[in-house]
Order: sequence, then C-alpha cells, then structure tokens
Amino acid sequence: MNYKNKQFYLKTRPQGVVTSEAVPVRERVISEINEGQLVIENHYISIDPAIRGWMRDEPSYMPPIELNEVIRSTTVGTVVESRHPDYAIGDVVYGVNGWETYSVSNGYFLTKVPENNHHPLHYYIGVLGAVGLTAYFGVTDRSGLKKGETLLMSAAAGAVGSLGGQIAKLMGCRVVGIAGSDDKCERIKSLGFDDAINYKTTKDMTSAIKEACPEGVDVFFDNVGGEILDAALMNLNQFGRVLFCGSISTYNAVDPVPGPYNWWQILARSAEVRGFLVSDYFDQFSSAAQTLGGWIDEGKIEFKDEIVEGFDQCLNTFNKLFDGSNQGKTLIKIR
Ligand SMILES: NC(=O)c1ccc[n+]([C@@H]2O[C@H](COP(=O)([O-])OP(=O)(O)OC[C@H]3O[C@@H](n4cnc5c(N)ncnc54)[C@H](OP(=O)(O)O)[C@@H]3O)[C@@H](O)[C@H]2O)c1
Repeated sequence: MNYKNKQFYLKTRPQGVVTSEAVPVRERVISEINEGQLVIENHYISIDPAIRGWMRDEPSYMPPIELNEVIRSTTVGTVVESRHPDYAIGDVVYGVNGWETYSVSNGYFLTKVPENNHHPLHYYIGVLGAVGLTAYFGVTDRSGLKKGETLLMSAAAGAVGSLGGQIAKLMGCRVVGIAGSDDKCERIKSLGFDDAINYKTTKDMTSAIKEACPEGVDVFFDNVGGEILDAALMNLNQFGRVLFCGSISTYNAVDPVPGPYNWWQILARSAEVRGFLVSDYFDQFSSAAQTLGGWIDEGKIEFKDEIVEGFDQCLNTFNKLFDGSNQGKTLIKIR
C-alpha cells in the first residue's frame, strides 16, 4: 500500500481571513494502517463555515484542530484498504475526515452510503448530511415553529438558510429571508419565500424587517449574528424565539465581538434564545435524511450545490463563504 496524500493542514492559527501561510498544503504517504483502521479515497470535500471556528484554540462543541493537523471537514469517498471489521474495500462512506485526498479513519463518525442509494454521492455531505439536517431539525423541532407563524431567516440563500426556509413553507408558515444580493433575494423568492431583504443595500434593517413581517417575527433562525441579529430582536413577537444556529459575521473577527446591543428585548418580549447543534439529533439522522430525500424526489424542495473542481481550491473556496460569493452548498470535487 502506498497512497500519496495531499492535505491542507493548520500551520499557525489564522488571524482574520485564513491565508495559505496559516493553512498550507503538504504531501504525506500512507504506507500502512493499524488493525481497526481503513483508508478512504475521498471524492468530495465539504466546505463549511464551522471549520473557521475549529481553527481557533477556544472551547467549543468539538476540540480545536491542533497545530500541524489536517483541516477537519466531512468527506464522501470509497474505502480502498480496510483492517476494520465493519468496512470492506469498495464501501462508499461519508463522515468527519479532512481537507485531504485520502483519509485514514478508525470508523468514528463514519456512515455507509446505503446500497440502494439513487442520489448523487455529494448529497451525503450536503442536503442529506449535516447541512440539510441542520435546516430540518432547526426548523421542524428546535425552533418550536408552528403552522401560521412567521419565520425570519438570515443567510437565507445559503445551504442551511435556503433549505430551512423551504421546510418552513412546507409547514405552512410565512417565511422572510435576508441575503446579500438582489440575485440571491430573487432566487429565494423563486423557492417560495414570501419576501426577501438585501441587507447590503438596506439602510434600516429594523424597518425593513418590520415591513416584510407585518405580524412580527415568531422565530428568527439566525446564521449570522451581529447587526442583523440586533435588527431581528427589535421585531420579535411576545414569546418569540431566536434559534442560534450560527454567527458567520463574527467568525473571522480578530477583536472580541460585542454582544447584541438589543439583548434587553429578550426580556421585554419574554422571548427565548435557543442554542442549537445538529449533532444533538444524531440518533434521528437516518430517518430525517430519508424524509429530505423523499421531498427532493417529489420536487417539494430544491437544493443548489456549488461544486468546485480541484483539491487545490479548498482554501480559496472556503474564503468565499465569508464574502458571500458562494451560492448554495459549497463542495470540492476531487475526482
Ligand atoms: N448549529 C449547527 O449545528 C450548524 C450546522 C451547520 C451550519 N451551521 C451554521 O449555519 C450557518 C450557515 O451555514 P451554511 O453552511 O449554510 O453556509 P452558507 O449560508 O451556504 O454560506 C455562508 C453565507 O453566509 C453569508 N454571510 C457571510 N458573511 C456574512 C456577514 N458578515 N453578514 C451576513 N451574512 C454573511 C453569505 O451570504 P450573503 O451573500 O447572504 O451574505 C454566505 O454565502 C453558519 O453560521 C454555520 O456556522 C450551524
């Protein structure tokens, strides 16, 4: 066995936007594995905002990526060597691996793609993987959203946001999205969102949300934080809920990030802030993925992938998540 493995690894902890000095590429050869391990030839790599958080040396829901370690991410690929009792050569698997062409795994956080699968493989690290499940569990369960309520979604044209909004429409809710261009706003309206706000051209977000949500906001599904969160807080209904799914506007921050200026509104409106991690629902992943797959097959939801070709594009493509030049779920196709 001799696999030449290309990897992006964490050389130093980045300050601000991630550079190729902090996260360079190296080559390593995989020449042997231990009992209980397997080698995966990766086909697709998922590019996710959360990876920026894992590069920080801070307490979180997962340990930080250590210096000199490969950049952690989900991948889907084929088993090419196995000394693991549950995996055989040829199995197609997805799970937490890294920005690398081959991954050595001990089977943790790894799942087999079902043999009767009829979806494209990359769906398993996108719409049928953590991203799709985040939208699904966030909207249908953790947010407490009920039929007839109004859901406001930030980063609404992104992978989680565009799907979450469509799921809320299936539940019979009014859905308003916030996105960073007119094109993105048109796209989410074409997916069924009732209204959309371009936060980059709107001067007064508080008023714009009020206009788009005349009956107030029952659930704010927040992927962004910062000023958008502050404007949403001013429009929450009594007993409204903020689903804290992400805070992408702060991920590249170098200085400490101030808390929401309008935090008092949580008290004033007897509102709730609910932290949310998709992994809390791990035991329900496969049944939810079946539901999502069914909705896709029936044409009830649409999901856009942005597939960038070439392993070397991992870092450039990652940085696009933070300037909004990505569209939909961002992935790297290696082979
Ligand atoms: N809690 C969980 O378990 C969980 C799981 C998965 C993802 N997440 C979170 O969900 C969020 C969305 O993830 P995703 O994978 O679906 O990414 P995504 O929405 O596909 O891509 C990120 C988008 O965020 C927007 N954005 C970036 N910087 C911004 C800023 N400063 N202000 C406002 N918008 C900004 C950009 O869209 P615009 O053009 O609209 O600016 C960009 O396209 C992230 O916060 C992520 O961390 C949470």
